[in-house]
Amino acid sequence: MLPDLLHRSSETRGDEVLYRFANGLTIKTEVFSKADTLRILPIGSPQCALMNHLLNFPDVVRGKRVFEPFAGSGVLGFAALTVGAEHALLLDVNPRALDFQRTNAALNRFAPTRFTSILGDIADFVPEKKCDLLLANPPFVPTPEGIDGTITSNGGPDGNRFVGILLDRLEDFLEPDGRALIYVFQLVSDAAPLVVDLLDSIATFRSVEVTPSQQQQIPFDSFVSAYSQLFPDAAAKVEHWRAALVRRHGDGLGLCHYVVDIGPRTGAPGPCVIRDDFAEKFGEDFLVPAANTSELAIGRVFENFVPDTAANRKSEP
Ligand SMILES: C[S@@+](CC[C@H](N)C(=O)[O-])C[C@H]1O[C@@H](n2cnc3c(N)ncnc32)[C@H](O)[C@@H]1O
Repeated sequence: MLPDLLHRSSETRGDEVLYRFANGLTIKTEVFSKADTLRILPIGSPQCALMNHLLNFPDVVRGKRVFEPFAGSGVLGFAALTVGAEHALLLDVNPRALDFQRTNAALNRFAPTRFTSILGDIADFVPEKKCDLLLANPPFVPTPEGIDGTITSNGGPDGNRFVGILLDRLEDFLEPDGRALIYVFQLVSDAAPLVVDLLDSIATFRSVEVTPSQQQQIPFDSFVSAYSQLFPDAAAKVEHWRAALVRRHGDGLGLCHYVVDIGPRTGAPGPCVIRDDFAEKFGEDFLVPAANTSELAIGRVFENFVPDTAANRKSEP
């Protein structure tokens, strides 16, 4: 089993959180409850799982050009720099993210030549150079049409709006011998996450491994209830969304977190393999806890909730 080399500690002051990691990395973000649709995502199991992989397998990143699309605070790109990446390219559509990246670079004394922050949209951004390693934690929360959600989390009705764009454009970003680690949250139908269909339909010509990072799936009904609880005024929109997903993917849907690991080009479309190797690859400490799937559902939906906006005011928990 992989050790936790991060030993994360954090300190919250008002709307801001300062994280310190054992390897010296310091990252500032904001809290989930900040009443701002452009808030900066705090750090949880997704980022820690990917960072712990880099710390345990430094050859993955040493001397590499790293790209973090959906960069927010820049946590993954900056973590890569601490493990010896040559350069980190950070892309985000939120101008506030670039302010946090500047602050985080200063906190860690990264020379300006080691990273580039770009304000842009994943849909049309074209990098000057492709990267060797792509690290992504995209907005991935399935979100009913008509609920605005947040810039950090609204992943469209099935959660894969941005994952789809990223996978579609992967060859624009990644060197042929490059690797991508993408953390996702998936609707699961017939034991397969929807991302498997996406990967099959784009025929990556690369090896693809998909690793569950959660012990127990969230039943879809719990997830729907979480939306009904947090957005009581949007009941009709939630029901419309629920019914459309069930029509499309059948009854018995669940939700689960995964890491998608896309390897170098192989010359032939690679089969997508689902592997149960999270503990060896990322570290058991960063499995999404299974204790209470209803709480987990509320937590994910809460990422889409902005307390003080007019639309949400009545439904503040
Ligand atoms: C889940 S957060 C991840 C932030 C950071 N990578 C982390 O792991 O903490 C997703 C980020 O994607 C950004 N984002 C949303 N839509 C985007 C788009 N169309 N193009 C680029 N970035 C986008 C958001 O502003 C947000 O910072």
